[in-house]
Amino acid sequence: MTDRTTHPGLVHSGRTAFVTGGGSGIGLETALTLADLGADVAVLDWTPGAAAAAAERIEGIGRRALAIEGDTGDEQTVVDAFAETRRALGEIDAAIACAGVLGEGGPVFETSVEDFEQVMGVNVRGSFLVVREAARYMRPRRAGAIVLLSSLDGLQAEHGMFSYCTSKGALLNLARAAALDLARDGITVNCVCPSVTFTPLLEGRLATIPNGDEVLRSYAERHPLGRVLTSRDIASAIAYVASPLATGITGAAIPVDAGIGATWDNFRDPPWVETR
Ligand SMILES: NC(=O)c1ccc[n+]([C@@H]2O[C@H](COP(=O)([O-])OP(=O)(O)OC[C@H]3O[C@@H](n4cnc5c(N)ncnc54)[C@H](O)[C@@H]3O)[C@@H](O)[C@H]2O)c1
Repeated sequence: MTDRTTHPGLVHSGRTAFVTGGGSGIGLETALTLADLGADVAVLDWTPGAAAAAAERIEGIGRRALAIEGDTGDEQTVVDAFAETRRALGEIDAAIACAGVLGEGGPVFETSVEDFEQVMGVNVRGSFLVVREAARYMRPRRAGAIVLLSSLDGLQAEHGMFSYCTSKGALLNLARAAALDLARDGITVNCVCPSVTFTPLLEGRLATIPNGDEVLRSYAERHPLGRVLTSRDIASAIAYVASPLATGITGAAIPVDAGIGATWDNFRDPPWVETR
């Protein structure tokens, strides 16, 4: 017999989470997953009606919810959103920054200052504000988990996506620096780095080109698992990293990438070997 306690499994019962970008895609699936696992959830989203619709679904799961409409890049909005969440749902255990934009896309030599600032303003400043405000509430309790959404485009760069890649790379060191600043307060800060994930963001981008379906098929084929990711794949990883099971992980960049980071080449057989 050992004196070990039974593994509790993945639970968020009795906890409160704050999710930006919770009105769509990965953020929405994260908010619903955390609610499935027992958390009350506040959702901040700037798309009109999106946070309210998410809150309705969270309440449908039987959890308490708070809908906040606003811009995660705006300091006062984020300050007020955390205060309102604390008032309405109690102490904040997990903060997840999913809100993100692609911007116009384009190579460095065609990138406008406006596009660069917009992408950095949402993706980097928005995440910084979430970390800072979450820390304000978590430090006195000496516990908490903060998760930021970087990307495979943060770990490696993608041609023609200058502003986005710059912002997602910045998040990796933002998380490391914040993880060190908060480590002795018992607060973890990590990045989850998805590869291509089928969400309204990706659907919107594919809709702008004539051969969207073909591009999606080729994305799937290039990933060793033979498919692109789903919002649920990413939300499951976030739910783990934000849970009490992951208190030993901080300052990490965690790929959820269907294996594509394991190879430097597209997934295909070398010409001299038949493996499939
Ligand atoms: N989909 C992918 O392939 C993929 C891959 C890697 C990383 N990511 C990252 O995951 C995150 C979620 O992406 P998604 O694909 O679910 O996108 P999505 O567009 O489906 O959802 C993003 C949500 O964030 C909200 N939002 C955007 N800017 C905001 C702002 N300034 N303030 C408040 N809300 C804002 C939008 O209204 C939307 O509801 C993003 O940070 C994205 O960069 C996505």
